[in-house]
Amino acid sequence: MNKRKKYMANIYSKYWQDARYTKYGFQQYDQILCDLLLENEYQSYFEVGIGNGYPIADFISNKGKAVSGIDISPTLIEKCNNDFPNIRATVGDAELINETNESFDVTYCFHSSWYFDNLTHCIEEMYRVTKKGGNVLLDLQNSIHPSTSVSIGKKLRIFAKQFITGLKQLLDKNTKFRDAFITYEKPTDIKYLNQYLSKQGYSAIFLGLKDLSDPTKEVIDPDDQNELKNYIRIILTIMK
Ligand SMILES: C[S@@+](CC[C@H](N)C(=O)[O-])C[C@H]1O[C@@H](n2cnc3c(N)ncnc32)[C@H](O)[C@@H]1O
Repeated sequence: MNKRKKYMANIYSKYWQDARYTKYGFQQYDQILCDLLLENEYQSYFEVGIGNGYPIADFISNKGKAVSGIDISPTLIEKCNNDFPNIRATVGDAELINETNESFDVTYCFHSSWYFDNLTHCIEEMYRVTKKGGNVLLDLQNSIHPSTSVSIGKKLRIFAKQFITGLKQLLDKNTKFRDAFITYEKPTDIKYLNQYLSKQGYSAIFLGLKDLSDPTKEVIDPDDQNELKNYIRIILTIMK
């Protein structure tokens, strides 16, 4: 397991297990994602990066659907299994999913794509475990939306501060400095991703959201950079 994965499994999870409830909760954006998942009459769902199961897997399970999922963090999986016995959650890596081909109607991954080392490996794996006629859904941070670059700018400033103090900490073998590199979020280059998906022969739709608290979703052309930069978050659906 590389450093990023070890960090996500053992350190980030300590923050996320409570933050999902106390800091984020069930947002309007989560409702939009759940509505999309429930648009068709599908029965079996698989969440990649399921976290502690709250709120999305739990919401779908409460609609009478069979829900299972994986997460790289044993702590989060333990919490998910304790809190939601109807959900089958196991420890696993998004880039190498331990499930047989064509097992689920819907395979989805929300709030997580920017933590993966290799997003395209993850998408291929999600596609593999999805049944023919099913859907793969992910949400993506759009790398060319101005707020993404603002937040990157902010992070860079924080990072610069950490760099100075980090140099001292490094001498003390303090791990915080190294973690600043590892946890850096990776927004997606949508145009590049679309080219990749086309090469693979995938049939994809990109939905753009201008505002996370506004349920309006627009089908967008991922090759049109001018149009694309208006959308903060992109929801990718691949039909199998
Ligand atoms: C921001 S949390 C989102 C969790 C959940 N989807 C939600 O909406 O609350 C990101 C999740 O991705 C998981 N994760 C990160 N890298 C992973 C990987 N390579 N394989 C599986 N899960 C991973 C983390 O452990 C964490 O639970």
